[in-house]
Amino acid sequence: MQISPLTAKVRDDFPILKRKINGHPLAYLDNAATTQKPNCVIDAQVRFYENHNSNVSRGVYTLAEEATDIYEEGREIIAKFIGAADSGKIIFSSGTTESINLVASAWAQPKLKTGERIMVTEMEHHSNLVPWQLVAQNCGAELVYWPLNSESGNSSDGRLDLQKLDELLAESVKLKRKIRLLTVTAVSNVLGTVNPIVEIVKISHAHGVPVLVDAAQAVARMSIDVSAWDCDFLAFSGHKIYGPTGIGVLYAKHERLEEMQPFQGGGGMIRQVGLQTSSWAEAPQKFEAGTPPFAEVCGLAAAVGYLSDVGMPEIQQHELELTTHALKRFAEFKDLELYGPPETIDRSGVLSFNLQNVHPHDVAQVLDESGIAVRAGHHCTQVLHKRLGIAASVRMSFGLYNENSEIDRIFSALDQARNIFLA
Ligand code: ALA
Repeated sequence: MQISPLTAKVRDDFPILKRKINGHPLAYLDNAATTQKPNCVIDAQVRFYENHNSNVSRGVYTLAEEATDIYEEGREIIAKFIGAADSGKIIFSSGTTESINLVASAWAQPKLKTGERIMVTEMEHHSNLVPWQLVAQNCGAELVYWPLNSESGNSSDGRLDLQKLDELLAESVKLKRKIRLLTVTAVSNVLGTVNPIVEIVKISHAHGVPVLVDAAQAVARMSIDVSAWDCDFLAFSGHKIYGPTGIGVLYAKHERLEEMQPFQGGGGMIRQVGLQTSSWAEAPQKFEAGTPPFAEVCGLAAAVGYLSDVGMPEIQQHELELTTHALKRFAEFKDLELYGPPETIDRSGVLSFNLQNVHPHDVAQVLDESGIAVRAGHHCTQVLHKRLGIAASVRMSFGLYNENSEIDRIFSALDQARNIFLA
């Protein structure tokens, strides 16, 4: 297979890519669901367990102090990676879902009053929808939608219109229906749309509305700079950034942290505990009840170091090349319906599609027979799929180790699917 310079450099770092599936070399194209792990991430966790394992922020013995230092260094590495001014704004969670639930429970719920609103978009993952539905129901508040651009029928280019956002926010002010928060993904996990976060935040702030950015898909695909983006909250998961599962990050601006009530009660988040009441530790510890995922922080810090060494601009360029190639291939076939921006502008390497008259699960199964891993289903975006007028889709999503030749293998396997189901 013809290998790009970036792929040639990184492929050997990922042991799983040596696997054969159904007699074929693994073509792993489900990176939007989770990414594979380089040796340095696997080794970092093993080294931690072999040499430093101990609970953090508790003991005063050598191992405990080493583990605490590693944990807090991890926080600093993450802060730097996303452009946060200081590590005090980084809260470790179990993943994007918990980070968003944390904001919903600890920040939104105590503030939200009956009749107030939370604004989401139609392209959000369930993890950035359901927590807001729950909190809105609890508070008598309302979830309102910033819709996708409309073309004819269900068709959309998969983008969001900034003018529309401005109008919706202004309309809410007129109706005296305060919008407490706009929550939006930076990159759609289905459409691949890259949303203009800087402009979105500017417009929202001009209307006095804070913004939460779901960066679950963005974080492995582009440089993130929370200071430049000026978002109030940002959430992502370790496992989507070539790091371990069970670790996530919530970034929050200082003033938002000050407004947040505790999320979960337990050890580590208190200052004083009395018989009836307690007082809280400062952020971020205030939001990290219980034993935190310290070995996973070690793995996540290694992942971030790895990506920084490869270079986020290089990774973004590589993904652009893969996406350009995939879009060209899609254009060859009239029976493939691709969702999301049809060209590389505002688009990342997450491409969902359907093969006419073949169920997405059947397509994914035929691809698996050729060693190709893609996801089929609603991708935790039932609202979006309904908006597009479909129940499910097939999704290929690129990582830094993918190659054009792997994309070509998908199109060859699609021919097999046509032969099996449509001949
Ligand atoms: N959020 C992940 C996906 O889109 C699981 O597949």
